Amino acid sequence: MAAAVVGGGAEILSSVVRGQAELHGPYGGVVPELASRDHVRTVSRVVAAALEGAGVGPEELGGVAVTAGPGLVGSLLVGLSFGKALAYRLGLPVVGVHHLEGHLASAELAEPSLRPPYVGLVISGGHTALYRVEAAPPPRLLGETRDDAVGEAFDKVARLLGLGYPGGPSVSRAAAAGDAAAIDFPRPMVAKQGFDFSYSGLKTAVALEVERRGQPLAELEVADLAASFEAAAIEPLVAKTRAALRHEGLSRVAVVGGVAANQRLRAEMARVAEQDGFRAVFPPPELCTDNAAMIAAAGARLLARGEAHGLDLNSFSRVPIGAAPWTSPAAS
Ligand code: KG4
Ligand code: ZN
Repeated sequence: MAAAVVGGGAEILSSVVRGQAELHGPYGGVVPELASRDHVRTVSRVVAAALEGAGVGPEELGGVAVTAGPGLVGSLLVGLSFGKALAYRLGLPVVGVHHLEGHLASAELAEPSLRPPYVGLVISGGHTALYRVEAAPPPRLLGETRDDAVGEAFDKVARLLGLGYPGGPSVSRAAAAGDAAAIDFPRPMVAKQGFDFSYSGLKTAVALEVERRGQPLAELEVADLAASFEAAAIEPLVAKTRAALRHEGLSRVAVVGGVAANQRLRAEMARVAEQDGFRAVFPPPELCTDNAAMIAAAGARLLARGEAHGLDLNSFSRVPIGAAPWTSPAAS
C-alpha cells in the first residue's frame, strides 16, 4: 500500500510505501487474499502519513489519483474505494491512472528535463514492454514479452536457488559473488527482429541446470547461476532498447519499473548509451519499485489536461495502456 502527495505534478512532497515483503515472503510470491486484507488494514494510516509527511491538510489537495489497473482486483478495489470516498468527502476530482503510465511518469518526476518523445522501457514483476512516449497520450507499444515478465523471471529464479523474496534484489546480491560467464544461458529474442521479449525459456534453462546439478547447491554455484542468469536476462533489455531507439530515431530512453533498480542493468545500459550516444534516464530505486508518487504525478498531468472521472470509476485486472475503459466517455 502506498500514498503520496505531489505538488505541481513534478515535486514529491511525501511518498509513503508500506511494502508487504514480510507478509508474502514465506510463500515466495504475492498471495492475493493476504494482500487485499492488508490493504484494508493500512490504507487510512498510509494516506494519513502521506498528508502528514507533506505537511498539507486534505483541504489543500487539488485532486485524488488512484490506480485503476492493471493489477490484483482485490487490492485495486481497496485503493479505488478509499480514493473515491476521499474525493467525494472533499469535493475533489478523482482520476484513475493506468499502473504503467504511472511507472512511465516516474522518469519525468525524477528528471524534469526529460521531455517526450522518448522510448520507455517498462520492466516490472508483471510487465516487460517498450513504448514510444509522445507528449499526447497514450504511449505507443513497440514490443512486449510474449510470456513471462523479466521481474517474474527474477522471482522464479530466486525460488529455484533458495534465495529470498522479492527475487530481484536477492538474485542481484547473490550474483555479485558469481561469474556471469560461468553458464551460457540463452539470450532470448536477441537475434530476432522486432522488439518483443520472452523469459519463460530462460527460466526453464535455469531450472534444468539446477536439476542437473542436484541439491544442495554450493554457495559458489548459486552465485554463478545467479550471475549468469542476471546477465542473460539483462542482455535482451539492452539490445531491444538499442534497436528501438535506432528504429524510432530517438536518443533518450526512460527505464522504469522494479527491475530498473537493478545495478547491472544500469551499468550495461550506461555503457551502451555512451557507445551509441543516447541518454538513459533511470529514476532512483525508490521510484522504480511500486510507489504512489508516480501515480500522483501521472494523475496530476491528467487533471491538468482536464481529464477527471466520475464516482463510477472502476478497477480492471487486465487493461492495456490507452484502451483504459475508465477514460472513455462510454464508461462514464
Ligand atoms: O514495479 P514493481 O515494484 O511491481 C510491479 O509492478 O510488478 O516491480 C517488482 C519487480 C519484482 O519482480 C522484483 O523482483 C523486481 O521488480 N526487482 C528487481 C530488483 N528490484 C526489484 N529485479 C532485478 N533487480 C533488482 N534490483
Ligand atoms: Zn509496478
